[in-house]
Formats: sequence, C-alpha cells, structure tokens
Amino acid sequence: MDTSTAKKPTLLLSRRIPEPGFSLVREEFTVIGGEEDRPMGRAELLRGVEGVDVLLCLLTEPVDGAVMDASGGSLRVISNMAVGYDNIDVQAATERGILVTNTPGVLTDATADLAWALILSVARRVVEGDHLVRQGRFGRWSPFLLLGHAVAGATLGIVGMGRIGQAVARRSLGWDMRVLYTRKSGPLAQEQVPAGACWEYRDELDGLLSEADIVSLHVPLDSTTRHLMGSRELGLMRPGSYLVNTSRGPVVDEDALVQSLQSGHLGGAGLDVYEAEPGLAAGLTDLENVVLLPHLGSATVETRGMMSELAVRNASAAVRGEPVNVVNPEVLSRMMSA
Ligand code: DGY
Repeated sequence: MDTSTAKKPTLLLSRRIPEPGFSLVREEFTVIGGEEDRPMGRAELLRGVEGVDVLLCLLTEPVDGAVMDASGGSLRVISNMAVGYDNIDVQAATERGILVTNTPGVLTDATADLAWALILSVARRVVEGDHLVRQGRFGRWSPFLLLGHAVAGATLGIVGMGRIGQAVARRSLGWDMRVLYTRKSGPLAQEQVPAGACWEYRDELDGLLSEADIVSLHVPLDSTTRHLMGSRELGLMRPGSYLVNTSRGPVVDEDALVQSLQSGHLGGAGLDVYEAEPGLAAGLTDLENVVLLPHLGSATVETRGMMSELAVRNASAAVRGEPVNVVNPEVLSRMMSA
C-alpha cells in the first residue's frame, strides 16, 4: 500500500510527550492535541476524543467510560504511556471493546534505581545531611552526627516481585542482603533467582513485614492493593524499619504512615508517590525522617524516550490488528470469536 496517500488513523494526544515518540506519532497518525506539557483537562478530553481512533494518554489523565463514550463509538485503542494504568477504567474499556495498552519493561531499571536511591537516602540520612550543610549548620565532624543504619547485610522485603521488584532485588546482591518477597503468582522458579542470591518467598505479607528491615513496594494499584499498607500493616513492621514506595501512592494509607513515623515506630520512609498526588498528607513535610520525591521513578531521558516510542508503537500495532502490551486481553478473545 502507498502509505503516503493512505488515510492515517486519528489519535488524540493528551499532552506533549518526549522524543522520539513525539515525532513518530505524527508519522503514523493524524494527531490532535499534544502540543503542551500540561495535563489535558476533562472538558478538553471529552471534546478532543470525539471521532478519534486512538487516545494516547498519560497517568495525569483519568479516562473513564464517559470519556470513551464521548468518542461517539470511534475509539478503538487507549495507549497509556506508563506501565501503571490505574488512571484508566479498564473494565469500562473492555465492556466497550476498546483495547488498552501500557509500556512495561522499558522503565524497570530506572524505577529500580530510584527505589535504591530512596533506600540509601533514607537509611543514611542523605537529604538531612545535604540540608544541614546548605544551611551552614555543619560545625565539626562528630561521632554522633546524623547516624543512619547499615544497609549492607540488612533484610529487604519486596512486596510484589514482578519485573521491577526483581530488578530491585538483583541490585541488593551488591549489599549482601537477604530478600523476602511476596508475589501474586507464587514463588519464582529456580532459574529466575540469581546464583548465590538468598531470596525467600512469603505467602503472607504479615510474615514479610515482621522480618524486614526495609520494605519496598512494587505492586500495581487495584482494588486489592489500595491501602495494602494501613495502620495494622505498618504496626507489624519492625521498630525502626524503613518503608519505600515507588509504586502508587494509594497503596499506602498516608495518614497512618505519618502517624507511624511521628510515633517513632518506623525509622523513616522514602516516597516517590502519594495518595492524593500531588497533594500530601498533613504532617508529612514536617517529618525529618522522610525523603520525598515528585514521582520520578521513570524520569531519565533514556527511559522517557523509550516509553514515548513504545506508547506510539503500541497504538500503531493495535490499529494494524497486531496488538501488543494489551492489559485487557478479553477484548482480543472477543474480537477473535466475533
Ligand atoms: C508508570 O509508568 O506507571 C510510572 O509511574 C510513570 O512513569
């Protein structure tokens, strides 16, 4: 087929995306929107989606049944430029026969690196130290100044041993850590565990929480993981232990976390995500023993480039009838049997 004259499918781009996806999407689609680096408002989204084949969106845009219906039945694909897709009502998409795709794999290492940045920052009080120096409060070296806790040899609890959880666990080999993990689909196969690693599966979250010195969260947000870490679970964590969250904010009851940190039960927390992002629970910023980042898990030039490209490729593959990275495969089976 002569692609220069063939009519391109239409795509609503909800906001500006990095290169190479930004250029690629224009080669493959007739693009509406996507010029500005700001979330698309609901009214704009409802207007913009009318008559398009594809919606390419990001986690800043909630996409529900009303948005899908505003297309007037034309919408066939929602391509999310993120591995998490809790901003999309997937059930509503499935009911309407709309494919939803995400961008797994390409952000695994960047997110695992950031989880480690938080682990080390909170356990070794890196940000507190930086503040002290900047504020001119660094007098003389002291054997008691900003003592943290050893990471080497500690026990790391990974809640959700998927791609990112495993990448975090692999990095811990350099710190000679024992790793405890939970995993929805049961223990890893022998060949998935690196030689020499001490990774132990726990079928109960409670068991992991009561043994780990550092707990790192790597579960997707859904109805089973919302407030997975509530006051009961935080209370089960070892006194002085650390919580790190690079998954989704609502996995943690943030008010309960603040209470646990204020009471001195937890040693500290490293957070990249928040329950009511970008809002923060009252009291969080008053705590010294927390490191707070603005959702930077995948924020490297390399990774954001790969995410933008994959989101466009997912959209093209789906309209060509060769979908990949589909999160609602039920739509595919329905298409096959139709
Ligand atoms: C994701 O992909 O789900 C991250 O949170 C944003 O990059």
